[in-house]
Amino acid sequence: MSDDSGWANPLRDALDRRLPRIAGPSGLVIFGVTGDLSRKKLMPAVYDLANRGLLPPGFSLVGFARRDWADQDFAREVHDAVEQHARTPFREEVWHQLAEGMRFVQGDFHDDDAFERLRATVGQLDAAQGTGGNFAFYLSVPPKFFPEVVRQLEKHGLADPPAGSWRRAVIEKPFGHDLGSAKQLGRVVHEVFPSDEVFRIDHYLGKETVQNILALRFANTLFEPVWNRSYVDHVQITMAEDIGIGGRAGYYDGIGAARDVIQNHLLQLLALTAMEEPASFDADALVAEKLKVLRAVRLPADLGRHTVRAQYTAGWQGGEKAVGYLQEEGIAAGSTTDTYAAVKLGIDNRRWAGVPFYLRTGKRLGRRVTEIAVVFQRAPHSPFDSSATAELGENALVVRVQPDEGVTLRFGSKVPGTSMELRDVTMDFAYGESFTESSPEAYERLILDVLLGDSNLFPRTGEVEQSWRILDPVEEFWARHGRPAQYAAGTWGPVEADEMLARDGRSWRRP
Ligand code: BG6
Repeated sequence: MSDDSGWANPLRDALDRRLPRIAGPSGLVIFGVTGDLSRKKLMPAVYDLANRGLLPPGFSLVGFARRDWADQDFAREVHDAVEQHARTPFREEVWHQLAEGMRFVQGDFHDDDAFERLRATVGQLDAAQGTGGNFAFYLSVPPKFFPEVVRQLEKHGLADPPAGSWRRAVIEKPFGHDLGSAKQLGRVVHEVFPSDEVFRIDHYLGKETVQNILALRFANTLFEPVWNRSYVDHVQITMAEDIGIGGRAGYYDGIGAARDVIQNHLLQLLALTAMEEPASFDADALVAEKLKVLRAVRLPADLGRHTVRAQYTAGWQGGEKAVGYLQEEGIAAGSTTDTYAAVKLGIDNRRWAGVPFYLRTGKRLGRRVTEIAVVFQRAPHSPFDSSATAELGENALVVRVQPDEGVTLRFGSKVPGTSMELRDVTMDFAYGESFTESSPEAYERLILDVLLGDSNLFPRTGEVEQSWRILDPVEEFWARHGRPAQYAAGTWGPVEADEMLARDGRSWRRP
């Protein structure tokens, strides 16, 4: 930007970029509004955005579900969800303004009358709330319903924006259950909505620490020179959860850990960790680089030795007894669904040839933690006695995605004393200590981006398809090879996973 004199004005540019991004006139329609995700994440995120002043004054929220609710019942549900899960303080005036734009439409997905009522509601909101015809349709429903809902939106003219306005589709993962179904789903959605109006949610991309991977790598000179096969021994990407499957048996059983989170969250983390520098930070440039690296991902030839799936059995967690997966309510007898999955991947390019990427995830593990650990090779030569270095591990850079957000650098240091003895120490960056601003919740960021039409943080069709291309052979192999291994709830997973790394002369980190 230049000022009147024609000269660039960097100060004004910087200030402009710091202005809050506020959504223009718009509304959000949520399908599956009575579900867990909507109550715990979506409704609270909408309120928090309103509370931070990032939504337009007439913003409207429409719930669509089978429940026999009136608008007031829906508003009461939102109120409860906000009270329980919102991150910002409750403010009566913000709530009142938001509640003005709340409507509920009762119906089934195949009920034409219900979609006509939805069309009428959207029209009324345009008139009463000034939403300007701009609506995003959030499909927080099981994927098998996506095609029907999208077709109904088309049939009832809801996918057609009035002149000068927009209509967007927001789709929650999983995007299909394998490559074939993902392609089919993609076809239906893209027949109805133009590709730049389709937003696929992978909420990990909305996390502050995940976006920071790009800042860490591409805004500094320090890390990039060693970010390659000449220095990196291997990379471990861990997403461990202490929770079981809770009330989500209907969704989870038959899907399992690998489809639930490796296909999306963990492969996205891998892509951001391994990709080349994009030409810019616009969506096209970012996607191009992520896609390039995902295309280069290769599975090991022997999947029996380099992948593990397992199921939790009863155990102890946080001092409480936890039942095994097969005893959870709603799980099919003898289910072989994986609640733990670990895979070894290679990346066939010049930067990463020969460097294994180990991905693991599991429910009911020792602790909730997500991290990316880049583990470096040992020094090529050591002038120290082997006794001095007995306790020395490898250097590592760990991006702590959650819950203790930050970055840790591990390296060896001399233990104070008169002899030369070396031990690992860490240098820490913690968000909480370095910044006073708190990180926005991923769903807040992503919903705001949808309303603004900013697609940087949303995976595109190609990425989704590449991720299934990687995972499908693993799922097929597992389906052919008996039952999953077992691990007791509250532990760090099955011994088979330890053996998998031990065969490569490595071990999993215990975060
Ligand atoms: C979801 C998965 O995508 O991510 C859940 O479907 C999982 O199974 C959840 O529990 C974890 O999200 P977060 O943000 O708590 O790490």
